[in-house]
Amino acid sequence: MQINRNIDLTFGLDGKVAIVTGAAGDIGKATVALLVAHGVKVIAEDIKPAVSELACTGQVVALVGDVAEEETAKRAIALALEHFGTVDILVNNAGRTMNKAVLEMSVADWDGIMAVNARGTFLHIREALRIMLDRGNGAIVNVSSIVSEVGMPQTAVYAASKGAIAQLTKVVAVEYGNRGIRANAVAPGVVETGILDGMVEDSRATLASYDHLHPIGRVGQASEIARVIVFLASQHASFITGATIMADGGYTAQ
Ligand SMILES: NC(=O)c1ccc[n+]([C@@H]2O[C@H](COP(=O)([O-])OP(=O)(O)OC[C@H]3O[C@@H](n4cnc5c(N)ncnc54)[C@H](O)[C@@H]3O)[C@@H](O)[C@H]2O)c1
Repeated sequence: MQINRNIDLTFGLDGKVAIVTGAAGDIGKATVALLVAHGVKVIAEDIKPAVSELACTGQVVALVGDVAEEETAKRAIALALEHFGTVDILVNNAGRTMNKAVLEMSVADWDGIMAVNARGTFLHIREALRIMLDRGNGAIVNVSSIVSEVGMPQTAVYAASKGAIAQLTKVVAVEYGNRGIRANAVAPGVVETGILDGMVEDSRATLASYDHLHPIGRVGQASEIARVIVFLASQHASFITGATIMADGGYTAQ
């Protein structure tokens, strides 16, 4: 028996065009860097003006805007078309968290988190689909969380928003699967990023204190989530759609 050595090991991403939201954050930055390394042209979007610093090569165009606004989603698509001619990949990564019990939470708290995490994801998917369906292909990767699967105190609205993302991912996968669209999600465990900045005193140390909750014995790094995102966007994941991949050091295996 012969071993076939003519196997395509590439990710098939060279020359593709992606939109990445939350691109000024840690997972976002790592994702942009990895996509660029694979030859992808990127619209890097964030509410923080610092996202503009990523636009140092002709391969990245920055967009400062609020993902929860319809206009931002439309602008992201317009920029992708204007600069790079199409949209092949959408990474819905922008997110905010909130540590409050149900009884402490106001309507404004609820709406604020849902607007960014759930509505922002929906708006970008809707706008990107208009182009992807025309072209007959597209890969959507949404960033969910382990709290879409397990209950954790103080995470009510964050968990609800991430659960919404996981379900939306499935619906998009079944609605548009036969028209060339794949939609998947990655659900990270605790990852050492700036997500708690401004919420607790030493945010990185707080996140690191979750090490023991992960069977692997440590929290994750942004680059480890970026690798899953890029895999899901690539041709290596051509038969995966509607899935939420747990990238959680075994957290949800317990
Ligand atoms: N860090 C973790 O432990 C963890 C775990 C599970 C899931 N996640 C998810 O990973 C994603 C990335 O988060 P991160 O950990 O890199 O944190 P981060 O805070 O470093 O990055 C999040 C980015 O989203 C941006 N953002 C927030 N609100 C926005 C808005 N309205 N419009 C545009 N951009 C906005 C922020 O400015 C920030 O740059 C989020 O969706 C988060 O919920 C993180």
